[in-house]
Amino acid sequence: MENQEKVLALIGYTRKNGNTQALLEDYLQEFAQDKKVDLVDLNALDFKGCIYCNGCLQGPSCRLRDDFSPIYQKIEEANHLIFASPVYFNGLTWLLKKAIDRMQVYFANPMDWQGKKSAWLLLTAGAKAYPDQFTAGYLEGQITFRTLGYENFTCIGVDDTDSRPYKAGFLRKEAIQINGMNRRKGNQWE
Ligand SMILES: Cc1cc2nc3c(=O)[nH]c(=O)nc-3n(C[C@H](O)[C@H](O)[C@H](O)COP(=O)(O)O)c2cc1C
Repeated sequence: MENQEKVLALIGYTRKNGNTQALLEDYLQEFAQDKKVDLVDLNALDFKGCIYCNGCLQGPSCRLRDDFSPIYQKIEEANHLIFASPVYFNGLTWLLKKAIDRMQVYFANPMDWQGKKSAWLLLTAGAKAYPDQFTAGYLEGQITFRTLGYENFTCIGVDDTDSRPYKAGFLRKEAIQINGMNRRKGNQWE
């Protein structure tokens, strides 16, 4: 359908069929009910991170030409943008970070973004919940999605995947919403 909203998901895992993929697929199933979903596996792309060439200060495009180049159009057209990553050393994977740094072109050239509806960061972490397990990822997601025109940002974290691997359909039971200073709502951390 022509006027369907577009969902773009960038997944930054380093292994297929793991927790992060399963979590993302849960969300994508919901989005796919009435939206057009496009999933990009960053691990399958051959691309560089930002090399600070300042080319994007000369014009609103990235000078690097690689597998990430076609992703810019998808980002610009998306109404909903999802990043998914395992937590590595309390942060995002190097793979998702590499993709995020390529967004510098939009930081250098603020766009008049229209139609940006919801942004999501989905994180899985192996250890049992501990303070700041998702903080670095949350803060990185926050600045990135703001740069990409999204006011509405939701960060979801699933902990303890080492002893409790994420299985499809666990969505509402296992996921917690990460907020503000990233303290778990409810009883434990605040
Ligand atoms: C390099 C590396 C660093 C990790 N760092 C953390 C960490 O800081 N905190 C944590 O809870 N889990 C950490 N983990 C565990 C992963 O976040 C967890 O197993 C995740 O669910 C893996 O996702 P996947 O199944 O999609 O690969 C780390 C794993 C690796 C390989």
